[in-house]
Amino acid sequence: MTDTDSARRGDAAPLWWRGGVVYQIYPRSFQDSNGDGIGDLRGILSRLDYLNDGSERSLGIDAIWLSPTFPSPMKDFGYDVSDYRGVHPDFGDLAAMDDLIAACHRRDIRLLLDFVPNHSSDQHPWFVESRSGRHNPKRDWYYWRDPAPGGGPPNNWVSAFGGGAWQWDAATGQYYLHSFLKEQPDLNWRNPEVVAAMHDTLRFWLRRGIDGFRIDVMGMVLKDPRMRDNPPNPEWGPDAGMPERFSQIWLYNRNWPEVIDAVRGIRAVLDEFPERMAVGEVFGPPETLAWYLGGEALDGLHLAFDFHLIGGYGTGHTPWNAAAFRERVDAGQAALPAGAVPAYVLGNHDQSRLVSRYGREAAPPAAMLLLTLPGTPFVYYGEEIGMADVPIDEAQARDPARHRAIGRDPERTPMQWDASAGAGFSSGPPWLPLGDPSVNVAAQTNGAGSLLSLYRRLIWLRKRSAALRGGSYASLAETPAEVFAFVREAARQRALVAINFAGKPAALRLSADLANAPIACSTVAGRQGEYPAGGQLELGPHEGCVLLT
Ligand code: GLC
Ligand code: CA
Repeated sequence: MTDTDSARRGDAAPLWWRGGVVYQIYPRSFQDSNGDGIGDLRGILSRLDYLNDGSERSLGIDAIWLSPTFPSPMKDFGYDVSDYRGVHPDFGDLAAMDDLIAACHRRDIRLLLDFVPNHSSDQHPWFVESRSGRHNPKRDWYYWRDPAPGGGPPNNWVSAFGGGAWQWDAATGQYYLHSFLKEQPDLNWRNPEVVAAMHDTLRFWLRRGIDGFRIDVMGMVLKDPRMRDNPPNPEWGPDAGMPERFSQIWLYNRNWPEVIDAVRGIRAVLDEFPERMAVGEVFGPPETLAWYLGGEALDGLHLAFDFHLIGGYGTGHTPWNAAAFRERVDAGQAALPAGAVPAYVLGNHDQSRLVSRYGREAAPPAAMLLLTLPGTPFVYYGEEIGMADVPIDEAQARDPARHRAIGRDPERTPMQWDASAGAGFSSGPPWLPLGDPSVNVAAQTNGAGSLLSLYRRLIWLRKRSAALRGGSYASLAETPAEVFAFVREAARQRALVAINFAGKPAALRLSADLANAPIACSTVAGRQGEYPAGGQLELGPHEGCVLLT
């Protein structure tokens, strides 16, 4: 069955990825099972009941995305893959992965791996061969170029992590391209052998039962064949605090028109198997996301991350105010092809955590927003208990990517399960320091007013509600300035979501059809079941409410 079929089926029997909740696990930091301070697959397996045991005591997520678990020298913590078909010994082995797949499926949880097509590790046997001589059969699997006519690198492209994107190889007298670290050489997707090898890698995992992939920097896989210089970015200045990668507009090495061919090729492989899914890490305005989905044909990526709410990728974080959020959601919705599903994100392993960006009081309304907007929401581990960025000093820093002052370690610290010395994460010294010990799962498990319990209520409500899970979206124009409100509508149900972004109360006038609908969920515990009085919904500071007909 293709997705176009499922899109036509409407929301009667939606496929799991059309509105299911995906939980991102950073495997090093979720649960350690052997005391080495590094999270692993057996650890994740032992925590599945927390994620979904079929009852409302658990979070109720539908799928897990694991950041890379493959063998890797860990220069970029797994985004430098040296064997696409294995498991890094820190995380376990193939048998542990098979067990995890089976255990997830028993609980009706889908499992996604992180596919890194743009580059391998420089230790991958393919690159070792490629580098060994100009006439090696794998030479053309990567981008090797002679110096520019006047000497120096072949063009002006910069690496995402700073510095030039070309590394000189003295032994063979050529440069190779690395859009990230020099230990992450870019694979040449114009070479059909590379494409075939990567497609077979996908099949290897799909046959093992993996339900799909998050695709790393999908939009960079094909570049301008002439590799022209990128134009300078007029908005960039070294003093503006913007990393070097924003010194140029990535015109010739990102979102290049032919990338869609690589996307469609991957999609065709996924379509060989039933109900599999690919979500792409792609960047660009809403029209670009629509293009990655394959436009009206919907034959591209199943989902494309919408990072407009998280911001932070050169555009700065979206300010915490109703108008800014409404504008970004409306623009994204308007650009979506018919039948397409958006994929919102408020946190991931590359961005400062939500409570650190917006403050702790923003966490409950942000959770409501993420879990009531249309589409397939992605929850980053720890977000559901309000984990914050953990201060990391120079000596503790592990992330080599220093495009932010201290890299991405602060948002990658171990999951905090309880208030014990190792936070329930590990019996040994954790690979990164722990955060505020009072922020933990055990402390929030039973309290109705906890953030964790709000996440649970929202996820289970969403599962039961046709309007929230698959309904249409329309934002309300007539609201107080600090309130973002929208209506979700399915055949027999309407939901109104109203979120107060401000620290003072607000009141929203209700249309006649919603004036008698009860509160199905509020960020304020205990309001559930209450009926709004006098035709208006009173919202406390930072309160969000869902009314359901
Ligand atoms: C993506 C990943 C990031 C990684 C980079 C290179 O942006 O999310 O963590 O460093 O690609 O693979
Ligand atoms: Ca371990």
